Amino acid sequence: MKYGYFDNQNREYVITRPDVPAPWTNYLGTEKFCTVISHNAGGYSFYNSPEYNRVTKFRPNASFDRPGHYVYLRDDHSGDYWSISWQPVAKSLDEASYEVRHGLSYSKFQCDYNGIHATKTLFVPKGEDAEVWDVVIKNTSDTPRTISAFSFVEFSFSHIQSDNQNHQMSLYSAGTEYNDGVIEYDLYYNTDEFEGFYYLASTFSPDSYDGQRDNFLGLYRDEANPIAVEQGRCSNTAQTCYNHCGSLHKQFTLQPGEEVRFAYILGIGKGNGARLREKFQDIANVDAAFAQIKAHWDERCNKFQVSSPNQGLDTMINTWTLYQAETCVVWSRFASFIEVGGRTGLGYRDTAQDAISVPHSNPEMTRKRLVDLLRGQVKAGYGLHLFDPDWFDPEKADVAPSKSPTVVPTPSDEDKIHGIKDTCSDDHLWLVPTICNFIKETGEESFIDQVIPYADGGEASVYEHMKAALDFSAEYVGQTGICKGLRADWNDCLNLGGGESAMVSFLHYWALESFIELAEYRGEQDDAEKYRAMAEGVREACETHLWDDEGQWYIRGLTKDGDKIGTAQQTEGRVHLESNTLAVLSGAVSQQRGEKAMDAVDENLFSEYGLHLNAPSFATPNDDIGFVTRVYQGVKENGAIFSHPNPWAWVAEAKLGRGDRAMKFYDALNPYNQNDMIEKRIAEPYSYVQFVMGRDHQDHGRANHPWLTGTSGWAYYAVTNFILGVRTGFDGLTIDPCIPTEWPEFSITRQWRGATYEIKVLNPKGVSKGVASIEVNGDAINGAVPIYAPGSTNHVVVTLG
Ligand code: IFM
Repeated sequence: MKYGYFDNQNREYVITRPDVPAPWTNYLGTEKFCTVISHNAGGYSFYNSPEYNRVTKFRPNASFDRPGHYVYLRDDHSGDYWSISWQPVAKSLDEASYEVRHGLSYSKFQCDYNGIHATKTLFVPKGEDAEVWDVVIKNTSDTPRTISAFSFVEFSFSHIQSDNQNHQMSLYSAGTEYNDGVIEYDLYYNTDEFEGFYYLASTFSPDSYDGQRDNFLGLYRDEANPIAVEQGRCSNTAQTCYNHCGSLHKQFTLQPGEEVRFAYILGIGKGNGARLREKFQDIANVDAAFAQIKAHWDERCNKFQVSSPNQGLDTMINTWTLYQAETCVVWSRFASFIEVGGRTGLGYRDTAQDAISVPHSNPEMTRKRLVDLLRGQVKAGYGLHLFDPDWFDPEKADVAPSKSPTVVPTPSDEDKIHGIKDTCSDDHLWLVPTICNFIKETGEESFIDQVIPYADGGEASVYEHMKAALDFSAEYVGQTGICKGLRADWNDCLNLGGGESAMVSFLHYWALESFIELAEYRGEQDDAEKYRAMAEGVREACETHLWDDEGQWYIRGLTKDGDKIGTAQQTEGRVHLESNTLAVLSGAVSQQRGEKAMDAVDENLFSEYGLHLNAPSFATPNDDIGFVTRVYQGVKENGAIFSHPNPWAWVAEAKLGRGDRAMKFYDALNPYNQNDMIEKRIAEPYSYVQFVMGRDHQDHGRANHPWLTGTSGWAYYAVTNFILGVRTGFDGLTIDPCIPTEWPEFSITRQWRGATYEIKVLNPKGVSKGVASIEVNGDAINGAVPIYAPGSTNHVVVTLG
């Protein structure tokens, strides 16, 4: 069953049936103002942090996707009313038709009902902390019509809903005021002229307004049947206390064929409502702002475009996977319909991995995130697992402006800087390959020498921060020389403490390899040698202690008592995805063992929806292994198809040269391929999810927690760098694809350091891997494609064979 289709021309996903089995969401905003919005226009906005400055309310779990950013229409002749988005009024789909276009940083809602065609396009203009609702109402009937339009948003008391529920502060410390087409919501406790004011404005002069939610909705009613809309008029009330909303109403008379266009503006900052109301009264400014958003994404996507025989791959890589990866880098975690801002800040490992995927499309944000993370690293080398970058930003006050001291106490240093007991064994290591990738992409070598403070005092160059990370992992090893598991490794639920983690040692090896390449490039021979010796020690320990001879795969680790996790002897948690894929991805293991390990992955973990994290799932609680054994079977970290490490398997297979297998794994997880089985998938087909229920759960195949998952960054990085095989280097572009044997050819446009590379890859012999020849601009070359002058276009022909 399907509910929509991909419109590649417009980079949109088009929902043609609104009765989707879950709210399908989108992210609006490219800077500080963000809205998470569903195909029903349910959702919420925030400024800067999803925990603080919550502009509009959302009730997670309490209802499907309410409240939202709604426009109601009312036929003032009959009294009949509806909403431009299907919800909240939800007209019968037999009498009304709806279409939703989720585009890159905008969502367009369209409704045809009873001779009225209406559209509402929501987007956040660049350079403004506001959301514009571009509304068009057209009379498609053959009689004149009198139609009233009403907006509705429910303002939030700044902090996440749960916090406000505890204190009900809005009942006595917030209020609305109406002034000339603007409803301003004043957070009385917050005297800041920017953060203390939210607003909803209209470009028309309203006929009536409501700033008080309960006046608009009416007693014992909800968003589906507001009394104001039913009666055709708001109560003209704005005042202090209670719960607040923004409703601006206007009546229009439309002749047959006539249309009216206007805008609502939702935003933050005293005075901004009046300013933007005036600006967008000239509708050409709305068009210009929208065109900027389109151009923003075209520019980013065009850094890498592929045309291959796999349409699903092209659609996802050219648009959706990059978009999702950028969303994760910008908004990190905790701003979705699942994670609704319960805490601020970044997950160290998440951001360190996300940032590997977008240095070409968003170098500024990548650099910012790297600095945030380096500031969140302590001198000993580990990263602070969860942290707020504002804590360590010298340019910000001790208390970040978004957190009023009257409401949120300043965290003490002890709260911020945790010790080894709370440290994750992998966090800091991801930084190293990500930093190297950033330098390779941008050529910004000075970044390596930039001096950045440590979270616990002192400072060092980025280069020294990287060494601290590598040294920490070399120091914190268990009896066999494998890295300790500590609080957790990549798997938050594998809590080994002093036990040992195979995946972290393999990750350590990968980080070391990345660093050694950098050290050699910089001519730091002593460091290259020192860390080469360290890498060799890690490799030896891995090959000696982690190979399970009977199973012919790598184990997952050891408990603190030395019991192996993930052997052929076990009936639960026998085979694990993380250790086997990272063994190969890292380059630590031989081709022969690598192939066997990945064969075990295929045999034991593969399903039509992707690779399971482990199998069989754990059924017996075991605190020496961790919380994973207390998660229901087939769910999340316990035997679900946990999406994030799936791309590690694509990289592993690509490194082994098995392109058919890499593509089999890729295709299984690709949400595009599940567009016509939504009754099973449930979640969005344009977004990777955190996990898909595994075979040990009755809902096997159901996809959960869309959008904010490290899968997107890894999927993008794995496909572009290892399957399609275009990898930036410090001084050249390597092209080394690993593709399905049946692909006769494919082409890529890659922009790198200001030049364009038009790459055509030919596969006359039907191989997966192996470059027979490369020509650039008609000349044969050996090895990497050199860096060409900015502004040049270079034609590269690669022949495999
Ligand atoms: O790796 C983690 C991530 O940091 C947060 N979500 C769950 C993943 C696996 O445990």
